[in-house]
Amino acid sequence: MQRTVLLATMLAFVTVVGPTLAAPVNYKTPDEVATFKPGPNLEVVQGNCAACHSADYIATQPPMKDKKAFWQAEVTKMIKVYGAPIDDADVGKIVDYLAATY
Ligand code: HEC
Repeated sequence: MQRTVLLATMLAFVTVVGPTLAAPVNYKTPDEVATFKPGPNLEVVQGNCAACHSADYIATQPPMKDKKAFWQAEVTKMIKVYGAPIDDADVGKIVDYLAATY
């Protein structure tokens, strides 16, 4: 008798809780919010700077005195230190865009 009650309790538990545990959980990822601002050579920047990280990295830099020198150094660092495959011919265009836009 005791066993039957225990069994019934377990069965009820599995019936009620089981489906809840097995129910699929949907994680909604946030929408991509960081985009590059419009500007000259935007497509070159999107093509070269969006592969490894979001545009947040660019938008969140502190104010700088010499924008051109800062971005020149930054783009060089992406290539030399992080191995970004960026064409030499595109570097000037990217620096111009960044200095003019950020
Ligand atoms: C090959 C991958 C790669 C590409 C392509 C790339 N980056 Fe980065 N970038 C990185 C890594 C790695 C970091 C450092 C991430 C960290 O510290 O969390 C970084 C960091 C940054 C930062 C933050 C400041 C710093 O120096 O760490 C800026 C700004 C930045 N990248 C700009 C750019 C721009 C502009 C381009 C396009 C010319 C670019 N990145 C392309 C890999 C890349």
